[in-house]
Amino acid sequence: MKKIDGLLIAENSSSKRIIDIKIKDKIVSDLVSLFNNFDLTAIEYKPFTRFTVAKYLDDLTNNELSKYLNDILRDRKTGCFIIGPETVTNETNDIFLVKLSTAVTHLIGTPNYDSMAGKFYARFHVKHEDKSDSYLRKAYTNMDLHTDGTYVKEITDWLMMTKIEEKNVEGGESAMLHLDDWEYCKELYNDPIGRENFTWSSPKSKNVDYKVEHPVFFEDSKGLPQISYIDQFPEPKNMKQGQFLQKLSDALEGSKNKVITKLPVGSAIVANNYFWLHGRKPFKENKNLSRELLRIRGSFFIN
Ligand SMILES: [Fe+2]
Repeated sequence: MKKIDGLLIAENSSSKRIIDIKIKDKIVSDLVSLFNNFDLTAIEYKPFTRFTVAKYLDDLTNNELSKYLNDILRDRKTGCFIIGPETVTNETNDIFLVKLSTAVTHLIGTPNYDSMAGKFYARFHVKHEDKSDSYLRKAYTNMDLHTDGTYVKEITDWLMMTKIEEKNVEGGESAMLHLDDWEYCKELYNDPIGRENFTWSSPKSKNVDYKVEHPVFFEDSKGLPQISYIDQFPEPKNMKQGQFLQKLSDALEGSKNKVITKLPVGSAIVANNYFWLHGRKPFKENKNLSRELLRIRGSFFIN
């Protein structure tokens, strides 16, 4: 396993494809003071400030972290890491975690504008009660495996989910599936319907007022399968497309090779959005259940 001063790096206990990165306490404490140079308004209003906080993080790891994170995300064998402070303290609070998430993502690429939140990141709660129009906040329903950015024009190469806080939570683990571990990949990938254009739209809360067209499957530069899919947003044009999507959904949810992992509070999971699918198991019912997440999606830097 790679060694970088200031970081604890290990294989995730649920999957050899996921790398766990803990930022040692000394670096976290240096970051806490450096991050105090900027408040959240500066981070939100001035895109260059986001690069300044990213550089703080990279400098504290001898500028090795940025290269390492990019290598992991682009490597088909891995493509996913979980990063967070070694120890969660009063200082690694929500504001710190927004800044840390900003720093990590700005070592990878540029975030997309998140229409749901009206800025480059979105914070949202999952609670006992929910009146929203998508599965994102429905605590007691399985959130099926999917990729992000299926209904937007922006390129979505990667996504980050940070767990800011949670209380009274049982269940709700992350479910992840790598295309190369998926038993039905070949069969579905070779179905010509999967290469047809589908129409993708989204419910009101997403604040996206257009539709996009793209296939479910496409290939990367080496001819390997890539996927852009979510269950709620494609509008099948005919029976063939409808049946293909049902088969795809059943084959994803029926996979025995899903990685079920519990994201620690304060940590973020970052994954390549072309060959990793992600979802969430249902929570156990509890009136006081509360989880707060932060998400950032974006494209890689084009060098
Ligand atoms: Fe998602």
